[in-house]
Amino acid sequence: MKIGTVNMAIDQIIKKIEKREARVGIIGMGYVGLPLVLRFCEEGFQILGFDVDSKKVAQLKKGRSYLKSIPSSRISQFVRGGGLDVTDDFSRLAEPDCILICVPTPLTEKMEPDLQYIEKTTESIRERLRKGQLIILESTSYPGTTEELILPQLESTGLRIGKDFFLAYSPEREDPGNKRFTTHQIPKVVSGVTPSCLKIAVSLYGQIIKQVVPVSSPRAAELTKLLENIYRSVNIALVNELKMLADRMGIDIWEVIEAASTKPFGFSPFYPGPGMGGHCIPIDPFYLSWKAREYDFTTRFIQLAGEINVSIPYYVVSKIVDALNGRRKSIKGAKLLILGVAYKRDVDDARESPALAIMDLLQKKGATILYHDPYIPSLPSFRKYRFKLKSSPLTKQLLHGIDAAVVVTDHSQIDYGWVVKHAPLIIDTRNVTKDLKRWKRKIVKA
Ligand SMILES: NC(=O)c1ccc[n+]([C@@H]2O[C@H](COP(=O)([O-])OP(=O)(O)OC[C@H]3O[C@@H](n4cnc5c(N)ncnc54)[C@H](O)[C@@H]3O)[C@@H](O)[C@H]2O)c1
Repeated sequence: MKIGTVNMAIDQIIKKIEKREARVGIIGMGYVGLPLVLRFCEEGFQILGFDVDSKKVAQLKKGRSYLKSIPSSRISQFVRGGGLDVTDDFSRLAEPDCILICVPTPLTEKMEPDLQYIEKTTESIRERLRKGQLIILESTSYPGTTEELILPQLESTGLRIGKDFFLAYSPEREDPGNKRFTTHQIPKVVSGVTPSCLKIAVSLYGQIIKQVVPVSSPRAAELTKLLENIYRSVNIALVNELKMLADRMGIDIWEVIEAASTKPFGFSPFYPGPGMGGHCIPIDPFYLSWKAREYDFTTRFIQLAGEINVSIPYYVVSKIVDALNGRRKSIKGAKLLILGVAYKRDVDDARESPALAIMDLLQKKGATILYHDPYIPSLPSFRKYRFKLKSSPLTKQLLHGIDAAVVVTDHSQIDYGWVVKHAPLIIDTRNVTKDLKRWKRKIVKA
């Protein structure tokens, strides 16, 4: 194909996108994929959602949401209007002009990247790849994933990158539960394997996102996402370490952070907690440390932050043991209520939550565990843990019958003043008892 012809073909694809005639397929209807689907629908695109989980597909087809942050009405309007179709039939991957990949990227038991979901998805796309298609990876992964893993597989079809098909990487920055920043408002970093791949990808995101930030290569975009998460992981580890020191020195770390935050430059506050949780921060940094080994490089900050953050649930448990001891109670046989098992405030997601590690450690020490979480009625199975527990209703009777309540997640709908009033002892990992000085004697910060 001559250069002029290729450029014309690219312009045609962009025109198709701008006129909303390009069909968009999104693979993986989870916390990242589903908000993206809705954003495209809002802008008048025809969307085809793909997921291997047929239960999710069936729910979406009925216009029902399974994510707390997304009301069913937002989905049903587009299903009814015909703008949104969802399927588990991957032979339909030939239909969309643009395909966005939003599948999981977890770690294996040995803390190494588990790329099976990206590999399977790429294989499904490869089988149906056709001229003119734009493929974009959104899942978080190490620098090189797009060009070393996906590109060779797609090129094996004989179709040529930047001419016949287009490949890009654009990391997702979704922050579930954050009402201040919607998908539309969060700037989007976009890269392409070739300049034409970048041009088309920028044009696509430009239709749904306020600010698109083009970067020079997929590897730069892949590392951008990891930098953002490593920055958080390292800073959280730093305040967690200082929390333990401050405790030993008899200083309240939250008071110190609040005071330091008044500095108008050069300081961004991070807050300690019960350990790190969620699908991203505890996992993503290890994608980079794994890849760094290929370059004879040890990512010491990542390792250190990981070590500290993993140790925090043990610290919390030691504070619980000490607090009970101070009341002449042993951890063995103690009845403990975990308040909040979600990995962060006001979300219904307990993946990698530090609550799980804390509950497991407490159970191994012989404590009886109950939990209350308004967003998680029962605990499903997780990568490492299996609990057969249901959320207990938060009542006066419950609080009177326990030895201590442990605040792990600071959900905003819980009245902590009321909890502190009725529970015999509170272990507070989130500073929710900051203004409850009156009950100081039964509060232990951890
Ligand atoms: N959750 C977040 O806040 C967040 C934020 C930014 C980036 N990310 C990244 O985005 C990616 C997706 O995360 P998520 O939280 O949306 O995960 P998720 O588990 O909520 O959703 C993933 C979906 O993909 C489906 N799936 C799995 N394998 C598939 C396959 N082969 N084909 C089609 N569908 C498949 C699953 O059934 C699930 O519905 C990950 O790389 C994650 O690190 C997540």
